[in-house]
Amino acid sequence: MNLILLGAPGAGKGTQGKNLSEKFRIPQISTGDILRANVRSKTSLGLKAKEYMDKGALVPDDIVVGMVSDRITQEDCTNGFILDGFPRNINQAEVLKNTLEGMGMKIDHVIGIDVERKELVRRLSGRRVCRKCGASYHVIFNPPVNIGICDSCGSEIYQRDDDKEDTIEARLKVYEQETFPLIEYYTKKDLYRSVNGIGTVDQITKTIVDIIEKGNSNT
Ligand code: AP5
Ligand code: MG
Ligand code: ZN
Repeated sequence: MNLILLGAPGAGKGTQGKNLSEKFRIPQISTGDILRANVRSKTSLGLKAKEYMDKGALVPDDIVVGMVSDRITQEDCTNGFILDGFPRNINQAEVLKNTLEGMGMKIDHVIGIDVERKELVRRLSGRRVCRKCGASYHVIFNPPVNIGICDSCGSEIYQRDDDKEDTIEARLKVYEQETFPLIEYYTKKDLYRSVNGIGTVDQITKTIVDIIEKGNSNT
């Protein structure tokens, strides 16, 4: 099963992607996580991407598209994958479609996680992330059992550079201008289903799993 998680910054793509990856035993592919790993290890891709990420802008399509095309051809994606943070604009969606078609594959579900703007800002400003496994926490809504330590893997958790007020505003604007049109794009293809992103993490996961298992989408 090939799944896309859509949603504004802070909607819970990373959080839900992790649960769904465990449930369906398919990898979660977060372009943001791959880019941040490149920034950390100072690869040439990472150095280039950082300029855009620090401003809250999208990294150029050619960089991101190549990264995803490489990733989905790896062996662990044979039974499917969960895309978190990709595609981010119509061009990326079109390239993805063509790449998958070339491999005899397709997207099965596009799940949009709906959260209002005020709540997005609250979530992003309190978020902490695991350096190693990328698990997302929140200082108030979803704190780790031990302060500063990831529940899943025991590594250090930190605040992302782009979770500052100005950058959050820029990211939300980019979402509205570039990513929001994908809702109409996938609705027209009869692949899109939205879920209410307010509620407990497990409730939201259950709603998504129900949509996928009951085949309420176009499969
Ligand atoms: P990316 O890493 O994808 O960031 P994003 O889209 O801004 O989304 P986030 O990761 O901020 O939010 P999320 O939806 O994953 O929420 P989370 O689960 O963490 O991209 C970063 C940058 O990389 C971009 O700005 C761009 O520069 C570049 N980039 C990435 N992909 C690209 C692409 N395809 N093309 C071009 N550039 C690209 O949850 C948020 C918080 O809320 C957490 O604290 C969490 O604990 C909490 N939370 C989650 N669920 C709940 C709940 N139900 N109730 C209460 N709190 C909750
Ligand atoms: Mg994320
Ligand atoms: Zn971890």
